[in-house]
Amino acid sequence: MKILSVVGARPNFMKIAPIVRELLRRGVPHRLVHTGQHYDAAMSGDFFRDLAIPPPEISLGVGSGTHAEQTAHVMLALEAHLLAERPDVVLVVGDVNSTVAAALTAAKLGIAIAHVEAGLRSFDRSMPEEINRLVTDALADLLFVTEPSGVENLCREGVAQERIHLVGNVMIDTLLAHLPRARALDTPGRLGLVPGGYALVTLHRPSNVDDAEVFAGILGALGQLARRVPVIFPVHPRTRKRVEAIGAAGIFREPAGPLPPGATGLWWLPPSGYLEFLALQAAAALVLTDSGGVQEETTALGVPCLTLRANTERPVTVGEGTNIIVGVDPSRIVEAATTILEGRRRPGRVPALWDGHAAERIVAILLR
Ligand code: UD1
Ligand code: UDP
Repeated sequence: MKILSVVGARPNFMKIAPIVRELLRRGVPHRLVHTGQHYDAAMSGDFFRDLAIPPPEISLGVGSGTHAEQTAHVMLALEAHLLAERPDVVLVVGDVNSTVAAALTAAKLGIAIAHVEAGLRSFDRSMPEEINRLVTDALADLLFVTEPSGVENLCREGVAQERIHLVGNVMIDTLLAHLPRARALDTPGRLGLVPGGYALVTLHRPSNVDDAEVFAGILGALGQLARRVPVIFPVHPRTRKRVEAIGAAGIFREPAGPLPPGATGLWWLPPSGYLEFLALQAAAALVLTDSGGVQEETTALGVPCLTLRANTERPVTVGEGTNIIVGVDPSRIVEAATTILEGRRRPGRVPALWDGHAAERIVAILLR
């Protein structure tokens, strides 16, 4: 069996890494295609080094664009490679534009599709990822699911039960495999941060950062929090552009070296490498985010997480994990963060099958 996997954006790399490693271990013929949706070294190339997987054999170089442009460019470029390679299965992960574009291209060529992280639903179709999830799952032949809600959603949508496999979470495979190396880097220490003494932020959802009013409100809340503890914010490129557009760069400080003892403030960092970001998450007092993957990683680490969104497609992180959906109202964000900083933390547990072996289960099913 020949498998061709397609990745394109930052969260795809953590998800594909354990699958690539397992396919290599079992000697399964495999090609990795990178669409080029993300292309900055800090958003793409550096992760292959951090995750210790071989770089992609095929790069499509599609870059940024509108949704239609990006999706269409991936389809046009990928079709030629699929015709040349003729894989038995196209494997896609997550919910980005590269995921849905690859699934559509494969479906039109009659090639079987495996979707890793299937079935998640926010029930919010204003979110581009929700459209990508719905379309990808409708086309997929094998649906690998991370949490029970995904199985329920797919069953409700009429997907045949034998196509659905609850296998656990490949992103947590990667986290568990790399946590010792990440901790050894001591990224917080090198930034002058005290374990449990700072907040970590990541934001990039268009609904948060592209809406100037919402974004200004969130930055105001972070500014208030930053009077109490250092707030560390590695800034995604979409968000960097919005900070510049609304003229908010002045509220950030950039560390020139380790922060002085007792420092507070809102600290701007470039997008972090995977190991550095994992180290920062693991020692944070709390994480404030709108990222899908970070909601899961904080649950696996047992670190309090505030999700700055109205909903989540990953309800297990709320029901079992450490995640609290706080929305984007600034006073609610500050209140929830203060509660956690004062030590009133909700205990969480790690969801079933988030045990570091999801990729092994996926490859075993693929080979069957
Ligand atoms: C994409 C995904 C989102 C995912 C996120 C992970 C879609 C619809 N969105 O959002 O689901 O959570 O990646 O990070 O697929 N840019 C750069 N350098 C890069 C990449 C992007 O400067 O390497 C800038 C460009 O101005 C680009 C903008 O960021 O227009 C947005 O990039 P894009 O890939 O379209 O969406 P993301 O917001 O990154
Ligand atoms: N991440 C990272 N550096 C950062 C921010 C996040 O390496 O500065 C990692 C994070 O640990 C997780 C993944 O990126 O593994 C999540 O990707 P992202 O938030 O871009 O996308 P989403 O999960 O929202 O689709």
